[in-house]
Amino acid sequence: MRHLGCIILAAGEGKRFKSKLPKPLHHLCGKPLIDHVLDCVSQLSCAPLVVVAAAGSTPMISHLQDRNVQTAIQDRRLGTGHAVGCAREQFADFDGPILVTCADVPLLRPQTMEALVEEHHRHGAAATLLTAVFDDPTGYGRIVRNDQGTVTAIVEHRDADEQIRRIHEINSGIYVFEGPALFEALNTLTPDNDQGEYYLTDVIARFVAQGQTVAALPAADPQEVLGVNTRAELARAEAIARDRIRARLMADGVTLLDPGSIFIDADVQIGRDTVIWPGAFILGNTIIGEDCQIGGHVFIENCQIGDGTRIRHCSVVRDSTVGRGVTIGPFAHVRDSSHIGDATRIGSFAEVVRTTLGQRCKDLHFSYLGDAIVGDEVNIGAGAVTCNYDGTRKHQTVIGEGAFVGSNSTIIAPLTIGPGAYLAGGSTINKDVPAEALAIGRARQENKEGYVRRLKRTNTGR
Ligand code: UD1
Ligand code: CA
Repeated sequence: MRHLGCIILAAGEGKRFKSKLPKPLHHLCGKPLIDHVLDCVSQLSCAPLVVVAAAGSTPMISHLQDRNVQTAIQDRRLGTGHAVGCAREQFADFDGPILVTCADVPLLRPQTMEALVEEHHRHGAAATLLTAVFDDPTGYGRIVRNDQGTVTAIVEHRDADEQIRRIHEINSGIYVFEGPALFEALNTLTPDNDQGEYYLTDVIARFVAQGQTVAALPAADPQEVLGVNTRAELARAEAIARDRIRARLMADGVTLLDPGSIFIDADVQIGRDTVIWPGAFILGNTIIGEDCQIGGHVFIENCQIGDGTRIRHCSVVRDSTVGRGVTIGPFAHVRDSSHIGDATRIGSFAEVVRTTLGQRCKDLHFSYLGDAIVGDEVNIGAGAVTCNYDGTRKHQTVIGEGAFVGSNSTIIAPLTIGPGAYLAGGSTINKDVPAEALAIGRARQENKEGYVRRLKRTNTGR
């Protein structure tokens, strides 16, 4: 098959979004709309691959630099035809077919693009359109066909008369064009339409007039070509995309209880026989192993979680790695580059921040570990707190293997507690503790015999 180029249009104003952020950077299932399109197109290994961005759209241009794709700049928003023309230079030496698509069709699947390219070659066409039949085609360009069923033109909704508006077959905005014919036809466009823009869609009538072949492929699943022009359409596309993600995971052997209530982002991976309870959020670049239990209303973002781990109800785990056979929660909070070793247990109302916990540790009841490095098999008693912040800077606590931190210990960092050391319950610790020592940092208890009896006698005067 001939080599394929690609142009993605992303310089539109997104007027109907009423946003400060460029529309292609709005998120759908945890990643920008443009990334959905780029990820889809990457399956077809297009080169050159050029995204047309608006001049001065700094967030957009720097995002594209991060993604390492070529950009063409559109100085003024003069329409989709003008936008494609902005990529002319990048295709100067290219004489093959070019896939043209928009940044606002995030549901498109690579198979559909491949089918479109195949259709293009099968017909030896100058242009091949991806179309769809919509119950409500309002707002879309309509596909006009002659009596033989051949495409003759695309007419925009706002330029269409009553008769054309009754057509339900719409232009998806996704096309394959023969490169040289496309750029030649763009030279002939005029802005004589309701918006005063140079429409890419007018190229079609031009090709037909020249006697060139225009083919059209109706999308097998019309939902794939839904355009996102408003926030309501974004919500609709998001609902469809989330359904797809859940269906894929269930097909791969993940159990979802009440699937519709569970939010899982596009790039999340989950292993077989993991069970996810209602209301869970699993977001960002998260990878969850096999045989895990993810409780109700759990929030997990950008984490790696090993096999057989249980994250119990209402826990939050962010930007961290969690080993195998770990238990976290209910109501625990693990965050900011924490690392939890295999078979460690973190219980209710425990907060763990920028902390590494070894294997088989117990941190079971309301406690705070911040900026700590904790060895294997350490017991953190109820109410223990690392005082990591002096009001200006954060300091580290190191707790050696096998140490026992008594309940309600207050550990004033920076300091080191040696392996196997014991901290007596209720201690305030502000000095290093040697290995296997017992540290007691609290006032010694004194019992005053008979005190209460004497007190009562004094008060009643008897
Ligand atoms: C376009 C099509 C319409 C089709 C619909 C499908 C045209 C004239 N119309 O309409 O037939 O049914 O898509 O979703 O092409 N853009 C630029 N520069 C511009 C204008 C637009 O880069 O000057 C980009 C936008 O960022 C967007 C794409 O082109 O990604 C489409 O523009 P948009 O304004 O959304 O076109 P529609 O009105 O949806
Ligand atoms: Ca659009």
